[in-house]
Amino acid sequence: MDSKRIAFVSVLGAALLAVAVDPALAQGYDSTTENLIKTLNTQLLYAAIPITVLVEGILIYTVWKFRNNENPLPTKENRRLEITWTVATAIVLLFVGYASYGVMANEYVTTTPEQAQNVEKNAVEIEVVAERYAWTFNYKGHNVSASTNAVIPKNRPVYFNITSKDWLHAFHVPGLGLKQDAIPNQHNVIKTKATEEGTYQLYCAEYCGVGHSSMLGKVRVVSQPEYQQWLQNQEGYQPKPGGNNGTGNSTAGNGSSGGNNSSA
Ligand code: CUA
Repeated sequence: MDSKRIAFVSVLGAALLAVAVDPALAQGYDSTTENLIKTLNTQLLYAAIPITVLVEGILIYTVWKFRNNENPLPTKENRRLEITWTVATAIVLLFVGYASYGVMANEYVTTTPEQAQNVEKNAVEIEVVAERYAWTFNYKGHNVSASTNAVIPKNRPVYFNITSKDWLHAFHVPGLGLKQDAIPNQHNVIKTKATEEGTYQLYCAEYCGVGHSSMLGKVRVVSQPEYQQWLQNQEGYQPKPGGNNGTGNSTAGNGSSGGNNSSA
């Protein structure tokens, strides 16, 4: 088999492999943010897998072909080959850069302070307050605070305005493609629009102490009427905020009373 044929077979195999392993093709997306990130991931895989297979294929072929060569000679200068691989690399890098920038700069992935100021009409604004080891959600414009579980409407822009009461945490809802640091005295905004109803797991994604692994919550995406109903119910009654008083659980800071300092 000559080298051209090997290259062709390699690329064909890679393309088939890419289709076979791509889970994104088989399912929908749960938010605009997740859609952007997963689509980019798929595009980059389509570029990366054939290149990987091609390079590894050439490497293995070369090792095999010259395995008994006692007296190797360097390749003579080949200008056409050099121009080809320079241009091909440039095209690949331009594609990766362009595709990534388009997603990273999208307001549903990176919400700038200006975009956070100019809130869309019809948007829901929620202040997310992290603390050891709980989440509180304050709904702007409504006298509503929820702890642990947030409720958001489907198909409406939602701004999560994320901050912390004590030290570093991170708001992370993988099902909706959301991740943002929670930092004291600072509000980091992440905007999204959920497109699928359901309940999504919320994690703290920054190690913050003995209770880090149990600093969990839920984000529930519901229909607009259901959201309205929920808001009205909440406005009638206020849960105790955050549980930050009276529990006396932070006397020793981190770890001394936990008994699980094996990883320290
Ligand atoms: Cu909060 Cu980890």
